[in-house]
Amino acid sequence: MRYLITSALPYINGIKHLGNLAGSMLPADLYARFRRMQGHEVLFVCATDEHGTPAELAAKEAGVSVRQYCDEQHRLQKEIYRAFNLSFDYFGRTSSTQNRDLTQHFSQKLEENGLIEERETRQVYSIDDERFLPDRYVEGTCPNCSYESARGDQCDGCGRLLDPVDLIDPRSKISGSKNLEIRETSHLFLLQEKMQSRVAEWVKQSKGKWPQLASSIAEKWLAEGLKDRSITRDLEWGVEILDQKGNPRPGFEDKVFYVWFDAPIGYIAATKEWADETGSDWERWWRTDKGAADVEYVEFMGKDNVAFHTVSFPITLLGSNESWKMVDQLKAFNWVNWYGHKFSTSQKRGVFMDQALELLPADYWRWYLMANAPEGSDFSFTWETFQATSNADLSNNLGNFVNRICRFASSRFDGRIPERNALGEEESRLFEDLDVHLDALKNHYEQIEMRKAASEIRKIWSIGNEYLATTAPWSAIKTDPEKAATSVNIGLSLCVLSAIIARPFIPDTSDRVLSAFNLKPEQVIWPEQVANSLRNYLTEGTEFTPPPVLFEKIEDDWIKKKAAALPESPSVKESNSYSPSPVS
Ligand code: 2FM
Ligand code: ZN
Repeated sequence: MRYLITSALPYINGIKHLGNLAGSMLPADLYARFRRMQGHEVLFVCATDEHGTPAELAAKEAGVSVRQYCDEQHRLQKEIYRAFNLSFDYFGRTSSTQNRDLTQHFSQKLEENGLIEERETRQVYSIDDERFLPDRYVEGTCPNCSYESARGDQCDGCGRLLDPVDLIDPRSKISGSKNLEIRETSHLFLLQEKMQSRVAEWVKQSKGKWPQLASSIAEKWLAEGLKDRSITRDLEWGVEILDQKGNPRPGFEDKVFYVWFDAPIGYIAATKEWADETGSDWERWWRTDKGAADVEYVEFMGKDNVAFHTVSFPITLLGSNESWKMVDQLKAFNWVNWYGHKFSTSQKRGVFMDQALELLPADYWRWYLMANAPEGSDFSFTWETFQATSNADLSNNLGNFVNRICRFASSRFDGRIPERNALGEEESRLFEDLDVHLDALKNHYEQIEMRKAASEIRKIWSIGNEYLATTAPWSAIKTDPEKAATSVNIGLSLCVLSAIIARPFIPDTSDRVLSAFNLKPEQVIWPEQVANSLRNYLTEGTEFTPPPVLFEKIEDDWIKKKAAALPESPSVKESNSYSPSPVS
């Protein structure tokens, strides 16, 4: 099979926090790694989402041009994702020429097909800020649910998409000024109402393949009836608006496309960037008339992005009347919170990816975040659960197992893989047990249920520990050295198996274990029935080197010191009384 995998594109404005990471990029990475291990052809792309007001404002604050700001931030984000071992085949930028061209292409096709119309609109203008306010920068009370801090584009209270002019008691988010007036200006509108039945039909077809969270959000939108929406904004930074001949469109010289119009096109553009750089064919991933019909396209995103991916972006693709690859599976996540409250980029609340890596290697975070993936509900990051999960699973369960058997084997069997002699009842039981759990694990990975996958991995690690406890080679070696050799051989094979099955979660650690046995990580494939494959990993009599301690135990003192050093960290003891300032 061929898998096209995309993660929601992170906004350019600053290093992301662990909540952002856990809600799309990290689970997408686990899935991409798993599918590659199964031997499938995978293309995993992502990019920085660079347009829109946040980039303009952040650049202004930093005192540099937006282009310069984006160049630098893109570089930083790319670097940190690499350090976290996110295995993107390509990490692009929505400000690329490929994305500009594709965005022009889609807008022209949509216009040709009668789906774009120029309309006079009434828009919020801030007299004090001397500018039109793009929708995210108008705040006010939601007309639907009365939530007081609704943004102009979407209400965080009820999740509905909004138009800034609908807000009650609006104010400028830039200056707080209420000195706003409504002015007339032209915008391009995407005629979504005309697309209602085509989108509804497509959503119906996709239903069985999407998780409940995604289908129900899409159905809610359709039930409310799709509304025509403006796809241009009064900004300088973005994809310029051209006429059908490629010249600046009269009346739109100071406007650009709305960031949510060009951002998802960025998935295609990032693929094109990759293809241009590597001399590959991007259309075989995206055009069903050019080889992409058999691609399975899987998207990962936070729940606030679902409407854009199940309705808006599909309208762009379907409305072009061209043969674009549409999403097959869509995995949406709830939030990772920080002690029960939202992580906040603007208030620097929570742990950010760069801070995390200064504290501990990526695998500690990857495991904790994905073993607790916010799949069924939100999940609250706390230092206490971080410490408990890490110590129980990584240090005690996996770490001790690998350490114990490798050191014992190294000292008593001369650093070589001992012989596997006759297998007994313990081994049959072990293989049977492993097959059951490996099968369950494969299903969870395939269904993108990362929490359940982590829990199966934990079980398999425990089975390894139990096997060693039962066969006790350290005692058996005195009475039955052949049996001891067998159980050490099996124990070492279990180390390899343990590392392989967890590789999507903890790739660095997995590689360290594999290289201890001179195995090349890229040659490792997904184990099916262990009764057949457990043996093949190791060659009797060959040398190996016990890996260094895989995971340090996280001590109470460390937690207290580290947590206290982070800005706005709740003190570990007083976490229950922690009450952060309002969400951003
Ligand atoms: O919500 C976000 O972080 C957006 N930057 C996601 C964009 S996803 C895509 F469609 F580009
Ligand atoms: Zn609301």
